[in-house]
Amino acid sequence: MAGPVVKVSDVHVRPFLPGDRATVRSIALSTAMAGSSSSMFFDGDEFLADALTGYFTDREPESCFVAVLDGEVVGYIIGARDTIAMDACFTRKMLFPLVQKALCAGLLFRARNIRFLYQVMRAAFSGRLWAPDFSREYPATLHINLLPQARGSGLGGRLMASYLGLLRKNGVSGVRMATMSEDAGRFFEHQGFKLLYRSSRPYFHHILGRDVPLLVYGRFLR
Ligand SMILES: CC(C)(COP(=O)(O)OP(=O)(O)OC[C@H]1O[C@@H](n2cnc3c(N)ncnc32)[C@H](O)[C@@H]1OP(=O)(O)O)[C@@H](O)C(=O)NCCC(=O)NCCS
Repeated sequence: MAGPVVKVSDVHVRPFLPGDRATVRSIALSTAMAGSSSSMFFDGDEFLADALTGYFTDREPESCFVAVLDGEVVGYIIGARDTIAMDACFTRKMLFPLVQKALCAGLLFRARNIRFLYQVMRAAFSGRLWAPDFSREYPATLHINLLPQARGSGLGGRLMASYLGLLRKNGVSGVRMATMSEDAGRFFEHQGFKLLYRSSRPYFHHILGRDVPLLVYGRFLR
């Protein structure tokens, strides 16, 4: 007699393709506030997706990987092998079009954005956006995000292994990243990262009623 039919999911990690761009942007927006949606703090999806993922998907797509569950992209790791070059590219080529986009779309006049930008400016003027510069010892960076239904089944570890493999192949000496999630911090420690710097950020205070942690993790690759 035949037993119950058990569905076996197809789960894999593969390099990013241009057709994944829209999904990566949508996942970035849905997880932007420490795993929750960006709509809680910002009104302007196109602009925010450009700011969060534009460099990685459009300027360095070869450093991006996606996680696929039953044919759907459910997560990503997006990275930069050299953050000094990334920052230079952002300032020279991406900042002006971004500002133009924000002005043309009237984003600076939307109440949610005014509240958020006010918090960011206050934090900047009181020195609360400062963090040490780790770009010499740890030149690379990354962002990793999975949709809730894809978490906890090994995909995060597989995305990380793909990206670290790419960095090693390119002779990169170290990688660091920042997170606002203590939970994600434990994942990074499990992946061999060490806590380099701990602080807190006040810019979601008007929504959460508390500061969020800022945890910077790093890992040498040689
Ligand atoms: C953080 C995140 C990428 C981890 O991916 P994941 O698929 O859930 O993690 P995995 O299942 O691959 O776990 C890999 C290993 O890390 C461990 N791990 C994962 N999360 C952990 C946690 N919160 N605490 C301790 N260990 C953890 C797992 O037990 C596993 O161990 P094993 O290899 O011995 O079995 C994912 O949960 C996520 O996207 N979270 C929301 C967004 C976020 O916080 N992004 C990162 C910061 S910007």
